[in-house]
Amino acid sequence: MKGLVLSGGKGTRLRPITYTSAKQLVPVANKPVLFYGIEAIVAAGITEIGIVVGDTHAEIEAAVGDGSALGAKVTYIRQDAPRGLAHAVMVARDFLAEDSFVMYLGDNLIAGGIASLVEEFQADDSNAMILLAEVDNPQQFGVAELDGDGVVKRLIEKPPVPPSNLALVGVYMFDANIHQAVNRIQPSARGELEITDAIQDLIDHGLVVHPHRVRGWWKDTGKLEDMLEANHIVLEQLRVKRRGKVGENSRIEGRVELGEGVELVDTLIRGPVVIGAGTRLEHAFVGPYTSIGENCRLSHCEIENSIVLANSTIREVPGRIDGSLLGRNVKIERSAEKPKAYRFMLGDNSEVGIS
Ligand code: DAU
Repeated sequence: MKGLVLSGGKGTRLRPITYTSAKQLVPVANKPVLFYGIEAIVAAGITEIGIVVGDTHAEIEAAVGDGSALGAKVTYIRQDAPRGLAHAVMVARDFLAEDSFVMYLGDNLIAGGIASLVEEFQADDSNAMILLAEVDNPQQFGVAELDGDGVVKRLIEKPPVPPSNLALVGVYMFDANIHQAVNRIQPSARGELEITDAIQDLIDHGLVVHPHRVRGWWKDTGKLEDMLEANHIVLEQLRVKRRGKVGENSRIEGRVELGEGVELVDTLIRGPVVIGAGTRLEHAFVGPYTSIGENCRLSHCEIENSIVLANSTIREVPGRIDGSLLGRNVKIERSAEKPKAYRFMLGDNSEVGIS
C-alpha cells in the first residue's frame, strides 16, 4: 500500500496565521499537525508516501524534506489549485499507479494511529474504507447515511440538513477503483471535485465501501478552537523529556517538557506544558495545556491553554493570556509611550479580546 497525504489548500479558517504559513504546519504540542499524520502512516508499515502540495509547497518541502527523518520516502505532487480532494487523487494518479492507498488529510489528527485500520482494510475485500465519527455539527463535514444493517447508503458533503450526525473523518482507504470514480464525478456547488461524491459513485457502481466507526477522539484542526483542543489532547499524553535548566526560584509541577537551552528564572510552570528550545521565561506563570515554541521570550506574564509559535515575545502583560494562538515573531509588550493607550499592529483577520 501507499500513502497519500493532502497538504494543499488555503486554510482560510486559521487566518491570519495561515497568511504566512501552511495550516498543516501549525504546531500541536510543538510538532506540525502534518507530522502526526505522516508518522501514523509510517507506524502502519507504509513508507512510500506522496504529499499533495499547492501554493505553500516550498514551506512543506522545507519542513518534511525527503521524509527520512520521519521514516518515510516522500514524493511531492503539485496541485495547481485546491480543486477538491478527488482532484488531489487525480493529480496523484502516476504516483499511486494500481496500488491500494490510504489517503490522509494533512490537517486531521486521530487517536491511536491507523495501523489496525490499515490491517482491517487489507484483510477484507472491500474497495474502500471510510471512517465515521459522531459530531455535534455535521453540516460542517461530509456526512454518511447508513441503513439498518450499517451499510453505507448515501454520502453528502456539508449538507445544510444532515441525515445523520456521522461525519467523514479525513482518513480514507481505497483500491484502484477510485481512479475511475474521480473521473466520473462533476464539480460540486462549491466548485470542487469532492471525494465524498467519488465514494458515492463507488457505491452507485455496486462496489463495496466499508464504514468503520471511530470511537476515540479525532480532530480536524481547521479552526482555532480545534487547534487548542488538539493541543490539549496531545499534551494530556505527554511523556516528559527535560533538557532545559530550572533556575533560581523556579518550580515545575506535573508533566513539563523543556527543550534544549530553556531558561527559567523565578517562573512557575504547571503541566502539561511543552517549551521549545532556546526559550527564556522570567517572572512568568505558564499554566496547563500550553505549547510555547522555540526561542520565545516571556517575562512578567501569565499564560495558559494556548499555543505560541517560535520567536515570539510576551512582556509585562497585566492579565492572564488564555485560549490564544500567537503566530511567529509576535510581540505583546507593555509600552511606556504616551499617551497611555493600547497600540496594535494586527494583520488582516486578527482577533483580540480585551477583558
Ligand atoms: O476533516 C474531515 C473533512 O475533510 C470531511 O468530513 C469532508 O468530507 C472533507 O471534504 C474535508 O472537508 P474540509 O472542508 O475540512 O477539507 P479542507 O478543504 O480543509 O481540506 C482538507 C485537507 O486537504 C487540507 O489539509 C487541505 C488539503 N487539500 C484540500 C483541497 C480542497 C488539498 O491538498 N487539495 C485540495 O484541493
